[in-house]
Amino acid sequence: MLNKFEKKICCIGAGYVGGPTMSVIASNCPELRVDVVDINKERIDAWNSDDYSKLPVFEPGLENIVKKCRDINLFFSNKVEECISQADIIFISVNTPTKTNGLGAGFASDLKWIESSARQIAKYARNHTVVVEKSTLPVKTAETIKTILNSSLDINPSSEEKKTFSIVSNPEFLAEGTAINDLQNPDRVLIGGEDDYSINLISDIYKKWIDPEKIITTNLWSSELSKLVSNAFLAQRISSINSISALCEATGANIMEVVGAIGTDTRIGKKFLMPGPGFGGSCFKKDILNLVYLCRYYGLNEVADYWEQVVKINYWQQKRISALVIKNLFGTLSNKKLTIYGFAFKANTNDTRESPSINISKYLLQEGSKLNFYDPKVNQKQIFNELDVNEEDGNVLVYEDPYKAVEGADAVLILTEWNEFKFFNWEAIYKVMRKPSWIFDSRISLDQNHLKKIGFKVWTLGAK
Ligand SMILES: NC(=O)c1ccc[n+]([C@@H]2O[C@H](COP(=O)([O-])OP(=O)(O)OC[C@H]3O[C@@H](n4cnc5c(N)ncnc54)[C@H](O)[C@@H]3O)[C@@H](O)[C@H]2O)c1
Repeated sequence: MLNKFEKKICCIGAGYVGGPTMSVIASNCPELRVDVVDINKERIDAWNSDDYSKLPVFEPGLENIVKKCRDINLFFSNKVEECISQADIIFISVNTPTKTNGLGAGFASDLKWIESSARQIAKYARNHTVVVEKSTLPVKTAETIKTILNSSLDINPSSEEKKTFSIVSNPEFLAEGTAINDLQNPDRVLIGGEDDYSINLISDIYKKWIDPEKIITTNLWSSELSKLVSNAFLAQRISSINSISALCEATGANIMEVVGAIGTDTRIGKKFLMPGPGFGGSCFKKDILNLVYLCRYYGLNEVADYWEQVVKINYWQQKRISALVIKNLFGTLSNKKLTIYGFAFKANTNDTRESPSINISKYLLQEGSKLNFYDPKVNQKQIFNELDVNEEDGNVLVYEDPYKAVEGADAVLILTEWNEFKFFNWEAIYKVMRKPSWIFDSRISLDQNHLKKIGFKVWTLGAK
């Protein structure tokens, strides 16, 4: 049964990267068998759900690909050891969050999931295996993985079977919300390695659907570092434009006019200049903090301080928006009800990790507010988890109907740029809110003149 495939890939980690990435590989390479494995049973069950709307990751286009490939050449399971032992190529796509305690806490990446994956590979892999770092990792992590893999050769020196390993770094540049398009049509694929055989093996997979000119090959360390630097540059653009949004509010300049004016300079470019409540997602903050940690480790303190400021501005923007809401609602939120539209960290994803909505909601709750939430893709359980509240708490309610969520509210905060918000019946919303009724649009996504005509008081980010 297994032999009908030319090669077998095992991906450890069925998350936001492993799931979509492997689905796209399976879809473009029917000659490969792709097994995505995870220790999280609930997640694997969701990937295998008959109801495709229950896949654990929401991404436009993903459902169709999983429908096409699942149980044909794409398999999701908890059989980590078995799939490792049968694989020619193993992608490690496990989580690498910031360490919460011990050495480097708050900055360095916690590599315990990488280490345990490497130990599993060391134990169960057979013959020659190419191990691909798909997770985002500090520079020189390949060295650690290599040490663990090679130690397996010492554990069982008498074994007749000779295991060998090569390591390749192939960081993922997809953005959540557009993951499938990014994987189908990437700006580039980066492959760092030490031997031509492994680099070519991984390049050949991508060449099935990607122009070879877009495949960049480097040494291992450049590849690992490029991913961190890429995220640092992207996040820096967000913090830069967000810092200017505050200056616009103070001076009467309009942030969108400034964006239009500077973005036409081809050296600056139009993309990734959208002001908002700050970047979120699992990556930007942790990757910059990791970069900061690396710089400090190598004694480059000025460089570390420079990049750390990008994260500090991000917190500041969230705090600033919360303070503005409080100030405009007469300086107090006690006995006030606020409605938050949008909890995902960006539109078109159900991912809430590091979402700006979390910090802003926490600040507002601390001020005594009651919060009603509506997000088209995020459910009550996820919002309760992120805010660390439960049903008994009573100050946080989550609605499936956006119109019910605003009844009696003093203000609506737009915190995610879901397109559907633009098409809400804002007249109907105004009618059921307490007066004066405020809209705080941190995503600059609504027509403030229209809202003002209805009777709303409106605050829009980056405008006076
Ligand atoms: N999310 C993004 O947009 C994105 C983009 C590019 C790169 N990355 C990087 O990709 C990596 C994965 O990110 P993610 O968002 O997919 O994380 P995730 O938390 O969604 O998924 C990781 C999965 O790995 C599983 N896992 C951990 N240890 C395991 C083990 N030993 N065996 C089997 N399964 C194991 C976890 O159960 C989890 O389901 C991270 O390093 C991240 O920085 C993420």
